[in-house]
Amino acid sequence: MTPFDDVAMSMETDSFVSLKNAKEVVEEMQEHDDGPRFACSLESLEKKPQDRYKLIRSIGVGGMKYVLLVYDRDTGREIAMALMPDFRERSPQLLEQFIREARITAYLEHPNIVAVHDIGLDSNDAPFYTMSYLRGLPLTTVLKRIRDGREFETHYYSLDRRLRIFQRICNAVNYAHSKNICHLDIKPDNVNVGEYGEVRLFDWGLACETDDEGNAIFAREGKLQGTPSFMAPEQISVNPDAPKVGKRSDIFALGALLYSMLTLSLPFSGRNSEEALLKTLSEEPPRMRKVAPPDMEIPIELEAVCRKAMAKNPADRYGSISELRQAVMNVQKRYFLANINAGRKRSKISIIIMLLFIILIAILLYLGILF
Ligand SMILES: Nc1ncnc2c1ncn2[C@@H]1O[C@H](COP(=O)(O)OP(=O)(O)O)[C@@H](O)[C@H]1O
Ligand SMILES: [Mg+2]
Repeated sequence: MTPFDDVAMSMETDSFVSLKNAKEVVEEMQEHDDGPRFACSLESLEKKPQDRYKLIRSIGVGGMKYVLLVYDRDTGREIAMALMPDFRERSPQLLEQFIREARITAYLEHPNIVAVHDIGLDSNDAPFYTMSYLRGLPLTTVLKRIRDGREFETHYYSLDRRLRIFQRICNAVNYAHSKNICHLDIKPDNVNVGEYGEVRLFDWGLACETDDEGNAIFAREGKLQGTPSFMAPEQISVNPDAPKVGKRSDIFALGALLYSMLTLSLPFSGRNSEEALLKTLSEEPPRMRKVAPPDMEIPIELEAVCRKAMAKNPADRYGSISELRQAVMNVQKRYFLANINAGRKRSKISIIIMLLFIILIAILLYLGILF
């Protein structure tokens, strides 16, 4: 007997909820309890009326999608629409990947994750999904502007603000991990930073479900996917005995992200992607002071945090995002407290000097030496 049986049996057979419907609902709920089941086939999508959306312009071209800015006539607002071009020529795996991206993003409701509004087929039967339009800047652009010495970004995105942004990204990934999803492509390009404090992680195109050990279930086999300098060694390695890709690969990427946010440089760079990938497998990232602009403020303890997050062996990294976030927060607190105390000490000394100066003037006046 399920909670729905009572309700259903008390109803007329032609009522809104029949006994059969109630059972289906319960079955659906039970399925849901086992975790998400992301229906990724074209058949799982419904055709949606396209007169709802008016094209404004293209705003991005991804590896396998176009992103358009459209006006949603129903809600009267601008939103972003992701579409798969030439979808008829795409392999079933790629189509599935696109639909999975939409479903997983929709499943993750969090203030620091882009929100999906609709998923369906357009008038040409092409799969599409709509999401909130991110009006801010990619974090990559922000970091580049600081590196170029642009005045606004250099002052506005202080060390403290950058560390707060990093913590918001950690919150987003931590939430995804709690829902057994890993992102696997965390990098400054996939973070959007708004002028009113918004921080959104997007592009869940490589995201996978994870098992109870935190290992990716749907990791695409045999094909290298990700971004050099942010991909963990296990995402690159072709060795069948390499550790499994999963939640700890995201921790590596967060370490690389923190490194770039502090130094404005990549932890592993080379003349080409292969070189960067090789360095990821065999070298430690360069010392932060060596690669950061000379006047960059970097709490030295964060170097150790980055290195631990980016350990070659996943078992040597932080065990969870909460641990990583806490480590960053601890350094941040100590560092800013020390700065405040140093500031207080400096102002105390200046007050004492001023007082001594006033006393000296008073004595000189009294002795008639002055005037
Ligand atoms: N919701 C959005 N709002 C605004 N721009 C977006 C949005 N989603 C994606 N874009 C733009 O489209 C580009 C490609 O999208 P992305 O999801 O990153 O694709 P890919 O998986 O190919 O990297 C992004 O770099 C960004 O500039
Ligand atoms: Mg992207």
